[in-house]
Amino acid sequence: MKLSINNLSKTYPNGVQALKNVSLEIPTGMFGLLGPNGAGKSTLMRILATLQEADSGTATLGDIDVLKDKDSVRRVLGYLPQEFGVYPRMSALNMLDHFATLKGIAGSERKELVHTLLHRVNLWDHRKKAVSSYSGGMRQRFGIAQALIGDPKLIIVDEPTAGLDPGERNRFYNLLSEIGENVIVILSTHIVDDVHELCSNMAIINLGEVVFTGAPSSALQTLDGKIWQKVITKAEIENYNQEYKVISSKLVAGKPIIHILSEEEPGEGFQPAAPGLEDVFFSKIMA
Ligand SMILES: Nc1ncnc2c1ncn2[C@@H]1O[C@H](COP(=O)(O)OP(=O)(O)O)[C@@H](O)[C@H]1O
Ligand SMILES: [Mg+2]
Repeated sequence: MKLSINNLSKTYPNGVQALKNVSLEIPTGMFGLLGPNGAGKSTLMRILATLQEADSGTATLGDIDVLKDKDSVRRVLGYLPQEFGVYPRMSALNMLDHFATLKGIAGSERKELVHTLLHRVNLWDHRKKAVSSYSGGMRQRFGIAQALIGDPKLIIVDEPTAGLDPGERNRFYNLLSEIGENVIVILSTHIVDDVHELCSNMAIINLGEVVFTGAPSSALQTLDGKIWQKVITKAEIENYNQEYKVISSKLVAGKPIIHILSEEEPGEGFQPAAPGLEDVFFSKIMA
């Protein structure tokens, strides 16, 4: 199965053009949609999840017309929205059972599914606790459990790792990468590491436009030999910003290390640096 998105555009009533002719081919596996806040990621995710209308363009999932045949999409979709609301005081077990009921799963099959999912996301021991009392990581794992109801072929998770601590993030990565083996998983995120660690294919989106698509490794190749680094002082940052194409500056042991983009060797004490996905991200969104 493949998701094909063609020339999708969306302008909000306030005039913000959130998506501008977005076209993407998304195969089975983990697909990273990377972009800064306001890039249009959630808008695209909501349109694909049939919760919002596009102004123009098309999207097909296998032979399903995603924009027209919403019921068919919903039957094969699992969605974890950016803001995932939960009922206060309801236990994970009861809430998951409730979601499964809404998806039309009945009787003993439902009970079995709910139990399987709670084990799968490692929440079985916490099944009787209120989801509203869960930590961020547990809540997101619960969110994945509800997204997996009904054996979806397309799973959309919108900024799932924002606010998780490193341990929680790792557990969440492991869960997602298991799931991503047989279905399409679209992971929207502004966190470069999410994509680097998990995704075989990716796109970078900025101001509603796709600015890169491909494998993370090919993204890195586009910058091969063009990234240069130098340790400078804080007072020098402004000068360097004016003189060079500075794509990032990171403090290491209190000193700024800048990365610049340059086709030629810049001299002036710059050293060649291996490009990271962060360099790709910042160079694409600054271009
Ligand atoms: N309901 C809305 N009404 C008006 N503007 C919106 C609405 N939702 C999002 N936007 C604007 O559309 C742009 C893209 O937003 P969004 O899709 O949420 O981006 P992201 O998820 O990448 O942060 C932003 O400029 C945002 O302010
Ligand atoms: Mg968003």
